[in-house]
Amino acid sequence: MRETPWWHDAVVYEIYVRSFADSTGDGIGDLAGIRARLPYLADLGVDAIWLTPFYRSPMADGGYDVADYRDVDPLFGSLDDFDDLVADAHDHGLRLMVDIVPNHSSAAHPWFQKALNAPEGSPERDRYIFRSSPAGRPGTEPNNWLSVFGGPAWTRLPDGQWYLHLFAPQQPDFNWNNPEVREDFLTTLRFWLDRGVDGFRIDVAMGLHKAEGLPDTTIGFGARSPIWSRPEVHQVYREWRELLDSYPGERAAVGEVWTDSAEDLALYVRPDELHQSFNFAWLEAPWSATAFRAVIDATLTAMPAPTWVLSNHDVVRHTTRYAEGAAPSAGLARARAALLTMLFLPGSAYLYQGEELGLTEIKDLPPEVRQDPVFFRTQGAMPGRDGCRVPLPWSGTAPPYGFGPGGTWLPQPAHWAGLTAERQTADPDSTLWFYRRALAARRTLRGTLPDTVTWPDSPADALFLSRGRLISALNCGTEPVRLPPHDRVLISSGPLDGALLPPDTGAWLLRD
Ligand code: GLC
Repeated sequence: MRETPWWHDAVVYEIYVRSFADSTGDGIGDLAGIRARLPYLADLGVDAIWLTPFYRSPMADGGYDVADYRDVDPLFGSLDDFDDLVADAHDHGLRLMVDIVPNHSSAAHPWFQKALNAPEGSPERDRYIFRSSPAGRPGTEPNNWLSVFGGPAWTRLPDGQWYLHLFAPQQPDFNWNNPEVREDFLTTLRFWLDRGVDGFRIDVAMGLHKAEGLPDTTIGFGARSPIWSRPEVHQVYREWRELLDSYPGERAAVGEVWTDSAEDLALYVRPDELHQSFNFAWLEAPWSATAFRAVIDATLTAMPAPTWVLSNHDVVRHTTRYAEGAAPSAGLARARAALLTMLFLPGSAYLYQGEELGLTEIKDLPPEVRQDPVFFRTQGAMPGRDGCRVPLPWSGTAPPYGFGPGGTWLPQPAHWAGLTAERQTADPDSTLWFYRRALAARRTLRGTLPDTVTWPDSPADALFLSRGRLISALNCGTEPVRLPPHDRVLISSGPLDGALLPPDTGAWLLRD
């Protein structure tokens, strides 16, 4: 009998649905494609999968612009396909989490369409955030807020009113002071819980409420921001927690929460709120033992069961981030080494599709194939996130590399011929096999190690951590370091040199 709930130490695999596997030949991944690849995920050894939005959407932001929260977009399949996927995932021993997008809907959502056609001050407009220009300044935005995707956060309507969109203009922000909004999201949560989902990833979880009067600001994600992490948002998650707890089977929620500090982050995971929140400080840390140690210390001080994540569909893949200022081959070596540190730490770990194949960011996508609104709203000044969203290479020696019977919505590079899942399955030294071995080792140790992490003495550029009899060693420096005392090496991310840990290498060591 397990003593801790599953999410406490789960390994969750993020599926960016449009780029995972395509069953129809339209070049876009779908639910049936995922279903056919469940054996691969079970073999990989993850505990759960998280699906990015597959709901009805005009796809202005890859589906994070939802027009109907309680239906599947025909691009991705049907509700029947979803039910089949849940059933099959459970048969494979995999939990399934879905993305919920409460900060904003699509402009095509029926509520927003009604709001557009309703007058100023109407109940229809009250479900979103409509405002007029400041007194005496006609034609001026209601305040100075900027869209996360570039440009102002306001769009003006022909009648002179503006609506708020913290992201693209096709993503109007909801008014979370409106009880209808709160009620409708509870209905949506119930809808998917009733269909058997094991939990939710909450998009922009620190948005939702905005400060009264919508004052100007230049503050980032800090606690004093009028945009992010307002105190009222916590009441929403208390209600959601109550709902989740009313279902059997440990349903869980993880928030996408960007904050300035681990203390602010910890507020979201108080016992009556979310189960988890993403800990992006780990992902944001550079390749440095000092930086890693600072993040790990701050996180574990603030939260008993944190999360760890190195890549997702919004950031440059860590193989590429870690290669900055280093030899290109260092990126993969460091990514593999960092995985061992991440999987060692107490709490749960989130993997992003393709990292198990050692995929890098595809930086040279031509402008005409790019789709991320970030690229367009910044006139190309920011490349956007398409480079980490290129459809996965499964098999074969030429595009679409088994992605599906047709093409791919973004072009795949030629060098992926050597990185397909098929090719790596045939090579015991591949990154895929390294991930499988690391995940298997973590499973074997699960439940046998204390959550408390201690820091054995280590050279300045290395990170030695221990949990009971297991030690994790990581060398972020340029010289080999002597391994700490141990009886056995359980796994290493690259070859060891006798008792020395080479640069850009990690290892798990056991004391009997
Ligand atoms: C989150 C998602 C991102 C999306 C944004 C707006 O940050 O992860 O992909 O663009 O929210 O919904």
